[in-house]
Amino acid sequence: MLEIQRMTPRVGAIATGIDVRAMDDQTFDTLYQTWLDCNVLVVRGQELQMDEFLAYSRRFGLVDPHPSISTRHPDCPEITLLGVNKFNTDGKLNMSIYRRGGHSWHTDGAYDQVPFKATQLYAVAIPSRGGDTLFASMYAAYDALPTALKSSIEGRLGAFVYGGRDRDNSLLNPEDRDKAPALHPLVRAHSETGRKALYFDPGKILRIEGMKPEESDELIDQLTEHMIEAGSEYRHQWQKGDIVIWDNRCSYHKAAADYPPDEDRIHWRVSIKELQGR
Ligand code: SIN
Repeated sequence: MLEIQRMTPRVGAIATGIDVRAMDDQTFDTLYQTWLDCNVLVVRGQELQMDEFLAYSRRFGLVDPHPSISTRHPDCPEITLLGVNKFNTDGKLNMSIYRRGGHSWHTDGAYDQVPFKATQLYAVAIPSRGGDTLFASMYAAYDALPTALKSSIEGRLGAFVYGGRDRDNSLLNPEDRDKAPALHPLVRAHSETGRKALYFDPGKILRIEGMKPEESDELIDQLTEHMIEAGSEYRHQWQKGDIVIWDNRCSYHKAAADYPPDEDRIHWRVSIKELQGR
């Protein structure tokens, strides 16, 4: 029987006692509402084939292949492989793969005109220590902003690209590296809950539209300082067979990127976009 435990008062819930391969709509609706309420939902103890993971993921929206073509599964483009091919042919650790998602707090897909609704990971192999994923709430970040900062971003658009100001886009194919920035409001109302969130990503933002470069950089620095609100964090310690989905419309996340490099930490990842109405 489905049991749900909240992990912290604001972010994170764990569901146990279910098999996502055989789940009726009523149970799924409970999971979905829990996810909307808690930003991050863990379903523990699943044994899945790739098509089963995809079928479950499609219940949340449109599963869309990630722009990093080189890290897609060769037979299944909707699945991105995390932690695979970590070593270059010369034996050196490829830091772009090992530290993927670990450089800074971020939200996935802000560089896209239709940004990602959700990201879902399935844990295939877990190291003996380290390798956690950290989450925090964009709602809490927005709510806690000083009034002056709230006013300075109200109605403003951020311009986002893969790799941001550092242009760290080595996981993209060369022909995909020069896409035009996507513009999104920095104060973004969640399309389902209606709650306001600080939609921001220091590793993807190029500039804040309509500001001089130095003013824009200064505001980006201030937002970076304020984006994580104490008490709105959840740190997930992975177990093999965990499925974790986070809501990119209201959550930041970051990989700890601290596990022993000679051990496997492998996930299947899908990027999910909104379908009409959900
Ligand atoms: C990501 O940032 O998308 C990956 C997070 C992780 O590997 O823990």
